Amino acid sequence: MKITKICCIGAGYVGGPTMAIIAQKCPEITVTVVDINEERIAKWNDKDVNNIPIYEPGLSEIVGEARGRNLFFSTDVDKGIDEADLIFISVNTPTKTYGAGKGMAADLKYIELCARQIARVSKNDKIIVEKSTLPVRTAEAIKSILDNTGNGVQFQILSNPEFLAEGTAVEDLLNPDRVLIGGDTTPEGQKAIQALEDVYAHWVPRERILRTNVWSSELSKLTANAYLAQRVSSINALSELCEKTGADVNEVARAIGMDSRIGSKFLKASVGFGGSCFQKDILNLVYISKSFGLNEVADYWEQVIIMNDHQKRRFANNIVKTLYNTVSDKKIAFLGWAFKKDTNDTRESAAIYVANDLVNENAKIAVYDPKVSQKQVLADLDYLETRNSIENAKFVTSFSDAYEACNNAHAIAILTEWDEFKQLDWNKIYDQMQKPAFVFDGRNLLDGDKLKKIGFVYQAIGS
Ligand code: NAD
Ligand code: UGA
Repeated sequence: MKITKICCIGAGYVGGPTMAIIAQKCPEITVTVVDINEERIAKWNDKDVNNIPIYEPGLSEIVGEARGRNLFFSTDVDKGIDEADLIFISVNTPTKTYGAGKGMAADLKYIELCARQIARVSKNDKIIVEKSTLPVRTAEAIKSILDNTGNGVQFQILSNPEFLAEGTAVEDLLNPDRVLIGGDTTPEGQKAIQALEDVYAHWVPRERILRTNVWSSELSKLTANAYLAQRVSSINALSELCEKTGADVNEVARAIGMDSRIGSKFLKASVGFGGSCFQKDILNLVYISKSFGLNEVADYWEQVIIMNDHQKRRFANNIVKTLYNTVSDKKIAFLGWAFKKDTNDTRESAAIYVANDLVNENAKIAVYDPKVSQKQVLADLDYLETRNSIENAKFVTSFSDAYEACNNAHAIAILTEWDEFKQLDWNKIYDQMQKPAFVFDGRNLLDGDKLKKIGFVYQAIGS
């Protein structure tokens, strides 16, 4: 079976970049990305390609090349489904905020809505690909909905989780460590896997395309994120011990990372991991484990989240303690709000929680992030529902210039590791600040010795 028309439901951080690359690499395939969010689709279609809704280095150029040729963005979900031979489901799967499993299980309502819409609209056989991150055995539910349409249409369901990281999405998609495709062991299932493999084989070497059964594929995605997050929580746990003992966490990370069995990646101590996936996916794993009665397994993984929450709170507490136990009415500049550099995504960013704790102490927060708007900063705080939006706006302001944000501040907190923060004129910043001038480097980003020479009191994580 040769795929000529692809539809992707969900034009977000995964659907948008992934489909842009498929369209670029497979010019003979028509790729349509559909979404119910009209504003998002309008931005994807903005004639100035720099206004697309997702910031990723290199993405706007690729969209510029393929859009209008074989890459299309639309709000007409029915039409996209009807015309496609292969449909990616790439909608959001957030943590449930209500009912059974509240605060832990994945909310699958968007997935189910997609399945029902596909079932209703489809007139010919299709391959349905789970691209979203899903609890193990979700394909069973999708299959049950699709198989009960009564109109004789045959569906094959594949799991093809995405491993890209934000900020490096284009690079990760162009050169993936592996592509994972899970499908049925039946001949029809194998044919569907082959069809999807042939799409990726336009640019991914076949030996990097891995075939598994559907359940292994679903569970591998949750497991990959749990392992990565566990590494960050492990090094962050050690960072606290380093601070008590005089060891330096950067040196410890370097020393253990050179052991090839451990490896050097994901050992950067930080204020805590953020992003839309680690916490959600680990909670999901914890929930599944509990639902099978595996309480020790659940507790083991939950500790990764507990450690991460502790690290964020510890960072905020340390600021208060160091500023003579009060930050009331003091200006604290936040450099960075996104959950990591090179993205405009702020979901679950550590900055939100640190700001929230400091506002509880009546601090005034001045935020500068090169890709995040004031509207987004306030929306993130409002979402926590600790206080109302008028109160939040009284305490938190955004600036479009780092120097303005730092002007007159008592302290600076580095929350995102944007490269440009290293290039700032730190002498100029020092001159504008209240003295003693503090820098709390939540990303171990800056040259501490240089800052200390200027006169700053500099504190990094774990040293
Ligand atoms: P996102 O919120 O950025 O995008 C999801 C989009 O789906 C939204 O624009 C929403 O409007 C749309 N949508 C929801 N229901 C819909 C429906 N019924 N019909 C049409 N559109 C609908 O989410 P994301 O970050 O792209 O994540 C999507 C999935 O991919 C999640 O399961 C996530 O865990 C997984 N994932 C994300 C990343 C990442 O880096 N963000 C990486 C790997 C996997
Ligand atoms: C992560 C995974 O890396 C992707 O493989 C996966 O596809 C994705 O989740 C997902 O499922 O959504 P992402 O959340 O975009 O990607 O970003 P990461 O680079 O993993 O960073 C996550 C958080 O950990 C960030 O806040 C980052 O600053 C922090 N981190 C990362 C550290 O604190 N230290 C490190 O050494 C590495």
